Amino acid sequence: MQSRAVPFEEGKEPSVINRTNQSKTSQLRLLRILVPFLALCVTFSVISIYTIRYFGINGVPTTVKSTFQPCYEEPRSLKQWIRPPLNLIHNMTDKELLWRASFVPRIKKYPFQRVPKIAFMFLTKGPLPLAPIWERFLKGHEELYSIYVHSLPSFQADFLPSSVFYRRQIPSQVSEWGRMSMCDAERRLLANALLDISNEWFILLSESCIPLYNFSVIRHYLMKSQYSYMGAFDDPGKFGRGRYNESMAPEVNITQWRKGSQWFEVNRKLAISIVEDTMYYPKFERFCRPACYVDEHYFPTMLTILAGNLLANRSITWVDWSRGGPHPATFGRADITEQFFKRILEGHNCTYNDQSSSICFLFARKFAPSAMEPLLQLSPNVLGF
Ligand SMILES: *[C@@H]1O[C@H](CO)[C@@H](O)[C@H](O)[C@H]1NC(C)=O
Ligand SMILES: *[C@@H]1O[C@H](CO)[C@@H](O)[C@H](O)[C@H]1NC(C)=O
Ligand SMILES: *[C@@H]1O[C@H](CO)[C@@H](O)[C@H](O)[C@H]1NC(C)=O
Ligand SMILES: *[C@@H]1O[C@H](CO)[C@@H](O)[C@H](O)[C@H]1NC(C)=O
Ligand SMILES: *[C@@H]1O[C@H](CO)[C@@H](O)[C@H](O)[C@H]1NC(C)=O
Ligand SMILES: *[C@@H]1O[C@H](CO)[C@@H](O)[C@H](O)[C@H]1NC(C)=O
Repeated sequence: MQSRAVPFEEGKEPSVINRTNQSKTSQLRLLRILVPFLALCVTFSVISIYTIRYFGINGVPTTVKSTFQPCYEEPRSLKQWIRPPLNLIHNMTDKELLWRASFVPRIKKYPFQRVPKIAFMFLTKGPLPLAPIWERFLKGHEELYSIYVHSLPSFQADFLPSSVFYRRQIPSQVSEWGRMSMCDAERRLLANALLDISNEWFILLSESCIPLYNFSVIRHYLMKSQYSYMGAFDDPGKFGRGRYNESMAPEVNITQWRKGSQWFEVNRKLAISIVEDTMYYPKFERFCRPACYVDEHYFPTMLTILAGNLLANRSITWVDWSRGGPHPATFGRADITEQFFKRILEGHNCTYNDQSSSICFLFARKFAPSAMEPLLQLSPNVLGF
């Protein structure tokens, strides 16, 4: 109470005044404030009227409109449709992603200079121990390729900003060998890569793959090829047709059943066929379960039905099954010699555009992390990069 009384007692106003006096004083004060305010209003109105007279009635609203327009309506240019996504991270579900990736222009001639790119799609559990080989292989070809990596969702990639693998990880999910989740991962890679309209060739690779030629040779080989390199073998033996389930008919007939390597190369047209498929997917998902390994049958069989004449029916990725067993040979430090590469590069005859050719394989697997050092030493002489 005392603290409130003090200012009153010390105030300049007499502590005892009658009511009329007080109200007169406050009216005067109000006027002192209102008069300058009114003057300000009048001045503003006069300026406004002059502005409208000089610049026209529409002058003021037009200014406001043109200032705000860019916020709502950006001028559209073709660029925003053909520019690859800056960031590979998105929150689309697989369903949304596949739908978006299936967009195809109906006019086949591009109204801009399109430089076709190779999409290297790495399907791995996590690390890429042979990354330095790929870095060297890709150096100097920045406008001609794109990289996509699908790894376990729990894996944290730690590539430096200077690396070709920096921020090239796509939103991933757990995938198991021989199960549909593996085909889902491959379709996810294809779909993400399709979002860049410049990607023309799509190559599925593992962390143990290496290129066998320099970038120019590989690009030239793909660019001139009339076929996509999907292994698609009609193997009437136990492990081929034996995995066919009659419930897949009529969509899939046993004569169309194919087996192939998981590691493929397809062009844009076939990549779209794979991501847009809703007819064969449910059949394979339901009727091709271990011991039917769906990742060896789904794409080769489906593409044989849809576009068999566009397939080379062989792989472009060399692998050594000669040691027998359920897994191909893995090569380490001691295996990497010039002699070894002579065997891979020169020991084959195959067809390329229906002509016999000695270049059969563009990539090879499987290489252990210990192979990296000798590979880097030999690659300039033996592999040409
Ligand atoms: C993705 O993010 C947007 C914006 O935050 C949200 O509206 C949308 O529902 C999300 N989609 C999914 C599939 O989570
Ligand atoms: C085909 O698949 C169904 C459902 O999975 C199964 O019951 C049937 O035994 C299979 N048939 C053959 C020949 O494998
Ligand atoms: C599979 O196709 C062949 C020839 O294309 C045909 O003769 C056969 O009847 C078909 N089989 C089934 C089960 O439809
Ligand atoms: C691959 O096989 C399909 C039939 O499955 C055939 O039409 C096509 O011509 C074959 N490709 C080549 C390059 O021989
Ligand atoms: C490849 O074909 C050429 C000519 O037809 C032949 O001389 C060579 O021995 C063949 N090489 C292999 C590995 O079959
Ligand atoms: C790529 O390799 C080929 C064949 O080995 C060679 O002729 C060419 O000069 C190489 N290109 C580059 C850019 O190194």
